[in-house]
Amino acid sequence: MFLEGLKAKKKSSLPYTLPEALRGAERLALVLAFGRLSVLEACSTLGSVTKVEVPCERICVVELDPSSLRSVTKLAGIHKFSPLLTRFHGDEAVIRQLVDQIANEIDVSRFALSAYDTDEADYEVLVRLLLDAFRQAGFKKIRLLRPKGNELLADQVLSRDALDLIAFPYKGGYGLGPTAWVPDVATMRKRGVEKPAPHSEISLSPRLAQLLLNLSGLSPGQRLLDPFCGSGTIISEGALMSLNCVGIDSNPTRVAQAKRNLAWVEKQSESGRTLAYDIEKGDARDFEGRFDGIVTEPILLPRFHSTPSSQKAKHLVNKASRVYSESLYPMAEAVRKGGRVVIVVPTLRTADGSEVLLRLEGTESIGLKEFQPGHLRFEYPVRVAFESTRWLGRAVYVFERV
Ligand SMILES: C[S@@+](CC[C@H](N)C(=O)[O-])C[C@H]1O[C@@H](n2cnc3c(N)ncnc32)[C@H](O)[C@@H]1O
Repeated sequence: MFLEGLKAKKKSSLPYTLPEALRGAERLALVLAFGRLSVLEACSTLGSVTKVEVPCERICVVELDPSSLRSVTKLAGIHKFSPLLTRFHGDEAVIRQLVDQIANEIDVSRFALSAYDTDEADYEVLVRLLLDAFRQAGFKKIRLLRPKGNELLADQVLSRDALDLIAFPYKGGYGLGPTAWVPDVATMRKRGVEKPAPHSEISLSPRLAQLLLNLSGLSPGQRLLDPFCGSGTIISEGALMSLNCVGIDSNPTRVAQAKRNLAWVEKQSESGRTLAYDIEKGDARDFEGRFDGIVTEPILLPRFHSTPSSQKAKHLVNKASRVYSESLYPMAEAVRKGGRVVIVVPTLRTADGSEVLLRLEGTESIGLKEFQPGHLRFEYPVRVAFESTRWLGRAVYVFERV
C-alpha cells in the first residue's frame, strides 16, 4: 500500500513512507523521542554504527552500514528517521538537487517541512525554496502543509499522505532529508490506553518500556526479570519481543492486574501466539532465580498538584532510595555475568528550580559497572527527556554485570 500523496515510481510498503531507493544513505538523521536516552538506545542497539553525532536536542545523526537499515526500525525511542541527503548553507542549487533526487522516485502532491531546533525565519526561507524547487521540477499544483509547531508528527505523516522533509541545524547550516520511516505508534498507544488494568496515569508507556528492553540487549528466548512489575508493562512488551519473562511484585493486587493485562495483550497479539511469562507475588529484596537481564522501575512517585518544595522532594527521594539500596544486591546476584540491569529512578524539579535526583552509588562494589556502548560517553543516570509530567521525571541507569 502506498501513501496516496506519494505515488511511488518504485515499490514501497508501510511503515516505510518512501521507496527503497530513497531510504538509505551513509548518514541517517533520527528524530529523538526521549532526548539523550534515545541516543543511548541507538548507540546500544544499532550494530554497525561507525559514527554518532548529536547536532541538536531533537536529532541524532548516525553513520551506519546501509545493509543494517532494518535495525533502525527496532528503535522505540525515535519518531522518524530520514536519510541525510544534503546540507544547506544558503546555496539554492542544493535544494533543487534535493528535490530532483526525490522527484526521480515519487510524485508528490503535498509536502510538509518538519524543522527541529530551527529558527523561525530560516524555516520560512527553507519552505519558500522548497516550494519553488518543486514547482520548477514540474509539480505545479503541489500543496504545502503547515504543521503545528513546524513538525508533522509521526502518525500525521501517514494520515496526511504527505512527503515530510526534515531540517535541523548541522555543521553551521541545515541538514535536510525526507522522512523514510515512522513507527507504528497507534498499536503501541492502544496497548497503553486500552489495557484492562491501568496502574496510574503516569505509568510507564509501552514505548518507553520497549526502549528500556532494547537497552537490556536481550535477544528472543532469553530470560528477563522485572522484580517490581506493577501492572506488567515491561513484562508485556518483553513477552511481545519474544523474551521469556518473569515478573514479581509484593502487592497481590498488582500481581492480579499484571496477569489480567498480560492475558489481554496475548489475546490482542497475532492469533495463536503464546507469550512466555510468569507473574508471581514476591519480594524484590529476597528472591531466587538466574536471569539474562533485568529491566525495572521500582518507584513511581506521586503526581503533585503544585511544584514540591526542595525539602519535600528530598524527603520523598530519600525514602525511595531505601527500596533501591535493598534490592540492588539481590538483582546483581541474580543476573548472569555480562547481563545488564536497567533501572529507572525518579527525578523531581522543585519550587526553587533545582533538581532532586535519586542516585545509585557504590554499585561497582556489588559487580554492577555502568554500561558504555562506545561511540559516545554517557553520564548516568540518563534523563528521559520530553515526558509530559512537569515536576516528576524519570532517569535511567544501565549496568553491566562483571
Ligand atoms: C512503579 S511500580 C512498577 C510499575 C510498572 N513498571 C508498570 O508499568 O506497571 C512499582 C511496583 O513495585 C512494587 N513493590 C514495591 N516494593 C516492592 C518489593 N519490595 N518487592 C516487590 N515489589 C515491590 C509495588 O507494589 C509497585 O507495584
